[in-house]
Amino acid sequence: MNSLKKEAISVLQGNWKDYFSIPCANLYPFQWFWDSGWIAIGLAHFDMQKAEQEIQTLLNAQWNNGFIPHIVFHTDSDSYFPGPDFHRADIHPNASPEYRSTGMTQPPVTGLVLQELYRISKNKKASLDFIHSVIDKVFRNHQYFYQHRDPHQEGLVYIYHNWESGTDNSPMWDDIWATMNPPKYEFERRDTTHVDATQRPSNREYDHYLHIIEIAKKHQYNDAKIAAHSPFLVQDPLFNAMLIKSNQSLIELYEIIGNNQDKIVQLQTWQHKAKTACNSKLFDKELGAYIHYDLRNNRPLRYLSSSSFAPLYANIPDANRATAMVQVLLERFGGEDQYLCASFDPTHEKFNAKKYWRGPVWINLNWILYKGLSQYGFDQIAERLRQDTIELIRKNGFYEYFDSRKTAHQQGNAGYGGNHFSWSAALLLDLLEYE
Ligand code: SER
Repeated sequence: MNSLKKEAISVLQGNWKDYFSIPCANLYPFQWFWDSGWIAIGLAHFDMQKAEQEIQTLLNAQWNNGFIPHIVFHTDSDSYFPGPDFHRADIHPNASPEYRSTGMTQPPVTGLVLQELYRISKNKKASLDFIHSVIDKVFRNHQYFYQHRDPHQEGLVYIYHNWESGTDNSPMWDDIWATMNPPKYEFERRDTTHVDATQRPSNREYDHYLHIIEIAKKHQYNDAKIAAHSPFLVQDPLFNAMLIKSNQSLIELYEIIGNNQDKIVQLQTWQHKAKTACNSKLFDKELGAYIHYDLRNNRPLRYLSSSSFAPLYANIPDANRATAMVQVLLERFGGEDQYLCASFDPTHEKFNAKKYWRGPVWINLNWILYKGLSQYGFDQIAERLRQDTIELIRKNGFYEYFDSRKTAHQQGNAGYGGNHFSWSAALLLDLLEYE
């Protein structure tokens, strides 16, 4: 077996905790929603039982209104802030009585992950039995989003916290921070004891993050009240693209399972409305890609990021639009001195090569873009993305994120954040299969 593959498997084995995986020791000691999804794809390549257990455990923590939290606190740990005592999700009447969690969510990847497990499986019958046993929970999660996160019934769901986006400190949130003036909180950061502070969000940014949670808590995490009062309310193209891709996966899986015509029709209805809205509201003709929309302040956030291209993976643009997007991707992100794909426009003054989601390359976004570009037949750039991803990990190790500037890699290590990071290992295992 190729040694990179062996190392990836050992990273995942090291982060396995009996019935779920942690993203990374110390820095992230619990179960995270979208991490679990990506991790399951990697586990499926060598241990399908663990892959299924990962998803099962996540879904066990689902609330009875269909909501799935972004962190499930399975154990006590003092290496992470803010923990369950800060989040206090239990004040929501529908919170799980069994699992402690946050009261916010993350990009809904579970549907697309179930389809990936089915694709990877060598025992389709057994996999279909598993999928059959959990798919309605994922459907209920989508129902939650369209019923509670789309106040104007546009077909686009909102996120109310930057941690829901997955792209925590992206520069586009700066425009929202400028509309807020949160108090200065007294708290002890833990992340910066594990990782160099220059690679993480600032303390002032954390004040904003905590303040939004305090507002949500004041309203017992009630969706309608959050929609009315949260200073952060955004329609995110990455988040919506993951939901749309997962809708499509559920449609295709229900078709294989059979006898679920009512759910298929409902999913198709959501799907049609969501794709239309994404194309009309979130596509920025001048920039040539999809952008975020600030629903609280009624304005587009006109920045290019790797999220801007995620709609390719959900088949949202038509072929002409997709071709034009590839040009933009190459011009802005694909210079000869760059590894694909920086998380934020490398030609923009707010680009920061080391700071988390303000510039570095992330393996999950590379995987999403690789799949999206392949679907449209852009094989050359898709292969470049795949090779860049493999090279970044081969040179540096299984880091959380990587410097996109090739020059930074000539002076030694340019992998940042946590090491032995689960989804970097998991999605590398999948990308290695496309050789
Ligand atoms: N990614 C966040 C953190 O850094 C939480 O989701 O803690």
